Amino acid sequence: MRSPHESFPVSAEAVTPQKILETGFAFWPSKVLLTAVELDVFTTLGPRSMTAAELGRVLDLHPRGIFDFFDTLVTLGFLERDGDGPLARYRNTLATAQHLDRTQPGYVGGMLEMLNARLFGFWNDLGAALKTGQPQNEVKHHRAPMFETLYSDPARLEQFMCAMRGISASNFQALAEKVDFRKYHTLCDVGGATGLLSSLVARRHPHLKCLSFDLPEVEPIARRWIEKDGMSDRVTAVSGNFLKDPLPRADVITMGMILHDWNLDRKKHLVRLAYDALPPGGAFIAVENIIDDARRENAFGLMMSLNMLIEFGDAFDFTGADFWSWCREAGFERYAVVHLAGPCSAAIAYKREGIENSGSASAAESSGPL
Ligand SMILES: C[S@@+](CC[C@H](N)C(=O)[O-])C[C@H]1O[C@@H](n2cnc3c(N)ncnc32)[C@H](O)[C@@H]1O
Repeated sequence: MRSPHESFPVSAEAVTPQKILETGFAFWPSKVLLTAVELDVFTTLGPRSMTAAELGRVLDLHPRGIFDFFDTLVTLGFLERDGDGPLARYRNTLATAQHLDRTQPGYVGGMLEMLNARLFGFWNDLGAALKTGQPQNEVKHHRAPMFETLYSDPARLEQFMCAMRGISASNFQALAEKVDFRKYHTLCDVGGATGLLSSLVARRHPHLKCLSFDLPEVEPIARRWIEKDGMSDRVTAVSGNFLKDPLPRADVITMGMILHDWNLDRKKHLVRLAYDALPPGGAFIAVENIIDDARRENAFGLMMSLNMLIEFGDAFDFTGADFWSWCREAGFERYAVVHLAGPCSAAIAYKREGIENSGSASAAESSGPL
């Protein structure tokens, strides 16, 4: 029989509560950064440096918090400080100058603005979401759902589209580099927003012609961005509704952060639409925070799925194996998962060479990932 103290895991290395405490407090640095974006700290500084008093005055802050706030940003690595004391001058780091000054093309603050204005509060109700399975966003507070508000307000829609560009750019760039597009001639990006995926892939692969397919409200925004990206000769914005319309035919169908927005039936519907739009040998690519099959590693992907619970209730993120089960059912022949950047991967399903659109799942045999 074991003595009582043997039931405690005692190792040579002391077990500390550090990670527990760090995670418990993690909303502090998060909220400091989100508030700095909200208050326009980084755009106000731009390329200049300012003392705490000057910056606080321009931002209309009470003197009590200015040194604590700006110095916290210094310790977190989001501001540089030259000197010490009241005469010290604060300036942007290289990263905040490029990515958090809203006058810069690399601005990613739109996503942080949305995190701060919406999700920070809604995540407070994660427990309720877990108990009820119901969304905890605007819908719960009887306000118009985010997308309804978004599509009725062109300025907010444009801002959301910019935010999506900011978080998707490195994934799409990696997709253009890592996936072999040589045998394909046409690509249709479904839910293409500003056309960024199409523009980056078409720029890297000059033989490709691309369509960026999205709702009618988005088409003019996409056209403008595609022109700005200098890709109008090979990327075309088209409009349609994937809940009602078939997809344009193309050798490659891509969906970036689309499948995770929907419940299982709609996911399967989208996979089937992609299958039907592809020729024999075509490829369907989902760019998502694909969860590892054992659901042990991709914490961001799993938390994104919790976020889908909070936003939609029945929508969810998924593993490569989940993706393959839906694709196999639709008739695809084989699949692969290609890591892109950070927590994001491309799940790719291939349609068999020489197969007609029979709609028969049994026509396809699994050959597993490449
Ligand atoms: C989460 S955003 C993803 C944008 C982009 N693919 C990316 O990864 O950055 C979802 C996109 O799907 C589009 N969308 C939503 N419902 C749609 C529908 N029924 N038909 C076509 N596009 C739709 C939205 O307008 C939006 O651009």
